[in-house]
Amino acid sequence: MQAQKNTEKSFVLRKGRVTAAQRRALNSLKNEYTITPGKSRLSLAEAFLDSDRKLIADVGFGSGESLLSMANKHQEANFVGIEVYSSGIGSALNQIQKSNLTNLKIIEADVFQLLETNIADETFDVVVFLYPDPWPKRKHHKRRLLSEGFLNILYGKITTNGLVYCKTDWEDYYCQIKEVFSSDDRWASEDLTNLPEYLQSLPKTKYERKALIEGRQTRELFFRKA
Ligand SMILES: C[S@@+](CC[C@H](N)C(=O)[O-])C[C@H]1O[C@@H](n2cnc3c(N)ncnc32)[C@H](O)[C@@H]1O
Repeated sequence: MQAQKNTEKSFVLRKGRVTAAQRRALNSLKNEYTITPGKSRLSLAEAFLDSDRKLIADVGFGSGESLLSMANKHQEANFVGIEVYSSGIGSALNQIQKSNLTNLKIIEADVFQLLETNIADETFDVVVFLYPDPWPKRKHHKRRLLSEGFLNILYGKITTNGLVYCKTDWEDYYCQIKEVFSSDDRWASEDLTNLPEYLQSLPKTKYERKALIEGRQTRELFFRKA
């Protein structure tokens, strides 16, 4: 299928406050816990002690509450968190060190560019998108990450029978994502009763709590690469 390319970024890098602890982590823990995209395509499995485990990506992990919770509880799998937001990356690095996790690595990158140029095909067993930025104004919908162009790139990076799971609190974004997956027969809709345990017991993040307070319900999407 022809990839329709996003020309607009799905994020705006604001100068958010980076705490002293986050700054320290960004300065001193990156070597140990991050994977740096280089010129050649990354084989992510090699970055982990046990490279034979399932590899699960959390894209746009924010402050990392869900990512850290999954990696702590499920040491039988490897996790990679992909994010552009420095203070969130700093927090996650601190938590990885505190919990002494060997099954979680961070990549500081725009996921669109990363997948397009730096990631080998058939890399991920599961890719998770928890509350991707909804860009609610119509004129900003073109910034939404989960578009046809992005999903075309993502398709190649997932193993056969690999899974994509998404939670969103924006009804029209939910409908848009569902429509893109459903109109492409390379993806099969997966029953939510088959959700792996690590996706059933996610903590409520700050973002999710805010959505609930503002009266927006969470919707879930779950697809399998056919
Ligand atoms: C609304 S927040 C959700 C954070 C978290 N997943 C949660 O559930 O609380 C969306 C996150 O996606 C990140 N993001 C947006 N576009 C991205 C991209 N192209 N690559 C990597 N991260 C991105 C943003 O920086 C932001 O932290």
